Amino acid sequence: MAGVLRVMEVLSNDARTELQKAFPPFTPDEEPGDAARLKAREPIARAFSPERVRAMNAELTATISALLDRLDQRGPGDLMTAVGRPLPIHGKALALGFRDEDLPALVDGAYALSVLSSAGASLDGAKQLELAGAVVPYQRLLTDYVTERIASPGTDLISQIVTAVQDGGSTHTAAVARTTVETLIALIGAGQSTTTSSLGLAVHRLLSDGASWRALAANPGLAPQAVEELLRLDSPIQALSRRTTCPVTLGGAELESGTNVMAVFASANRDEAEFGDSDSLRIRRTPNRHLTFGHGPRSCVGMHLARRLLSGAIGELAQRFPDLRPSGEKALRLWPGMHRLVRALDVEW
Ligand code: HEM
Repeated sequence: MAGVLRVMEVLSNDARTELQKAFPPFTPDEEPGDAARLKAREPIARAFSPERVRAMNAELTATISALLDRLDQRGPGDLMTAVGRPLPIHGKALALGFRDEDLPALVDGAYALSVLSSAGASLDGAKQLELAGAVVPYQRLLTDYVTERIASPGTDLISQIVTAVQDGGSTHTAAVARTTVETLIALIGAGQSTTTSSLGLAVHRLLSDGASWRALAANPGLAPQAVEELLRLDSPIQALSRRTTCPVTLGGAELESGTNVMAVFASANRDEAEFGDSDSLRIRRTPNRHLTFGHGPRSCVGMHLARRLLSGAIGELAQRFPDLRPSGEKALRLWPGMHRLVRALDVEW
């Protein structure tokens, strides 16, 4: 969350003033402390473990099918609006206990915040203000959920985060509410543009390589393996920065403690020593030890859900829309910036 707020510092004054309505600074009473913030993250990893994602299998299949029904009903157009943008929120809705009627507002708010935090500085003032305006009701809606769960706890992940924040020593009700909302915003944000963009980049690459798309249409069971290869080739997060905490030798270079390092996942994913013919799409590639979700103890906690959502969506898309194709020469459009964040993918069939 702190990262998201730091990114906001580069926005126009008007956009920042608007966002202040959603993110006023913590008052001294509300400041939760590091223990509570760290504790808040614990239930998240449990909620999206491989076992919990498997237990949600039937609901996730139904969620994906409903989004593809929507694409079918809308007809040719932007795949991101119909499927890619709602997919991550709809996929988390069961764990978080979101009500169906709130999903459109949650999708719009999460999407606006993800664009502002990743591409905001490259947008003009009017666009920044429009997006900031969509973030405020989103934050208020999340606050309403958290307030309800504080008053009447349930078994969902929001209730578990509330309990974890309280266990972390934060007892002031306003502090518990703020910390839980910020944890939710960070959780939803981490899975939003990443999953949306992965779907867009993967479908575009498959459609550009007709043979792989036809293979998936004939055998959607190939989707989980294909998704690993698609994630390897088109990592939405290209790189993240790190700081060494002790002297280390990395790729032959000796680095002192405290050195800033840019870990370029996208480059590692094309390392010829690890991936033969690394620029080519091979949907049956095994092994496929890509770094698109990071690596080690801080790797992506949502990777099992992301894999399930992407393979489910791509497999069913290929089966139901075997004639899918990009529409127009600039069908795939990205937001400006270092990462590969998809704005639109126009398709027809
Ligand atoms: C294709 C989709 C996704 C990609 C490519 C992706 C990628 C990543 C990467 C590269 C990291 C950082 C790892 C590191 O620091 O080494 C990360 C962290 C994280 N991801 Fe994902 N992610 C995806 C989907 C999701 C989903 C669906 C969720 C939520 C269920 C999620 C939740 C998180 C969280 C909570 C973190 C930790 C953030 C932090 O430590 O500040 N991600 N993800």
